[in-house]
Amino acid sequence: MYIAMVSAECAPIAKAGGLGDFVQGLSRELARRGERIEIFLPFYDVANLDVFQNLYEIQPSLSVPHHDQCLDCCVLGGEIEGVDYRFIDPRTSRDYFRRGRVYGEPDDAERFAFFSRAVLEYLLHSERPPDILHCQDWQTGLIPVLWSEIHRRLGLDTMRLCYTLHNLGYQGRVEGDILRQVGLDPLRLMHPDRLLDPNDEGMANLMKGGIVHAHFVNTVSPRYAWEVQNTEQGMGLQSLFQTHAHKFGGVLNGIDDAVWNPERDPLIPVNFGPNTLPLKAANRRALRTRMGLVEADKPVFGIVSRLDRQKGVDLIRHAIHYLLAEDCQLVLLGSALDPDIDEEFQRLKQATSESQDCRLNLEYDESLAHLIYAGCDMLIIPSLYEPCGLTQMIAMKYGVVPIVRRVGGLADTVHDANYSDKPFESRNGYVFDDPTEEGLEGALRRALGLWRRFPEYFRQLRVNGMQTDFSWSRPAARYMEIYEHLRSQ
Ligand code: ADP
Ligand code: GLC
Repeated sequence: MYIAMVSAECAPIAKAGGLGDFVQGLSRELARRGERIEIFLPFYDVANLDVFQNLYEIQPSLSVPHHDQCLDCCVLGGEIEGVDYRFIDPRTSRDYFRRGRVYGEPDDAERFAFFSRAVLEYLLHSERPPDILHCQDWQTGLIPVLWSEIHRRLGLDTMRLCYTLHNLGYQGRVEGDILRQVGLDPLRLMHPDRLLDPNDEGMANLMKGGIVHAHFVNTVSPRYAWEVQNTEQGMGLQSLFQTHAHKFGGVLNGIDDAVWNPERDPLIPVNFGPNTLPLKAANRRALRTRMGLVEADKPVFGIVSRLDRQKGVDLIRHAIHYLLAEDCQLVLLGSALDPDIDEEFQRLKQATSESQDCRLNLEYDESLAHLIYAGCDMLIIPSLYEPCGLTQMIAMKYGVVPIVRRVGGLADTVHDANYSDKPFESRNGYVFDDPTEEGLEGALRRALGLWRRFPEYFRQLRVNGMQTDFSWSRPAARYMEIYEHLRSQ
């Protein structure tokens, strides 16, 4: 099957969070199974292009309708391990993708609307359209709308659209005028059944557009799919999901074995696996040395996270104070887009800088993330909501016991050491319900108690997590079933 992915991120070329891992992991697994995969990305100035041996112009002059005129753009192509990459590079005075970062620009909606239209124009002029166009998140929500309004009739009618929602916290709420920019008619589309935002009368909601017009819509875990239909986690879209329930579901993410595998990871000092778990100690030592933590008989807790309200930043701060008072060690790697959150953590970093048990690294650092997973004992993820979450799965692969809130994909993947209905061999972490300091402390206390008093059980918990299959194999098979089903329609 010929599958094209459209996304704002793809690791290791442009990654801000789990969306980048998702596109990379699923695409590679599908290519490994023999499917033809093409990934469309904006040509960011911050893109990591070292991974390509060769990038070439595929379409030097693609004309993309933009307001009442056309903007010229170039499409570049490259290949890595059987996956084709296509970059949209606008050759105009508008430097849409030369901003020094992937997201967070005031004109994000305009930039990604242009990208969406450009991808469809490219496909329209290509030799053969893909069987499936798989779009991700709000940035590509206009693609199903454009397809349904324009491109279906122009020759892309056989193509089917799958739309995956990675985060309902970002829906792309914008002035309806954006529709005119890409050649759509706001008068037709600013309707409660189409793009009109349910929370903010008068605004267009690009994610809603994608949900209404795609052939299949899914979130990245079954539990989050249920939550967005039935609880306030739907963030205003609950009834929309109920209306479209016949084409909606949840598919749990995987993690890429070639990137996240302690037995082969080139970014960690000593490789190890479930049968060589004592070797993890060398990584813990290396982590302490790199971070300047004292060598001591204390557990090392880790946090690797975007510092966003979604991730429970108040609880993260509380965990740091609590664990230091409990004589533990803690390493945080996180970056904040929100200046207020950044400032709060800069202050905390300052306040803890004298401690030999705590280090806050407020940046994005891929290789340090690998060392933290390899070196720490427990990872804390107190999210307010979590569509899937990859860090708990990565942690478990690296023999780290996750401590998580019972939401979304965290609830689907972490089974409590004390309270789960699963047999002990399937238990792999600690889970708490209330997003409060008491809730979190309860789970930390239980985890710490096991680490201190029952090291053998704690080791077994680590091994249980390491032995769980979090690979892309099963999720990719699910996506293939969805694609096959769509193709047969
Ligand atoms: P989200 O996509 O909501 O940020 P996920 O758990 O799905 O959360 O994925 C996060 C991904 O980003 C993981 O691969 C994690 O290791 C990585 N990550 C998060 N913050 C950082 C950081 N500051 N430096 C390096 N990697 C990070
Ligand atoms: C989003 C979600 C995260 C998920 C990731 C990949 O960024 O916040 O929970 O794991 O997308 O699907």
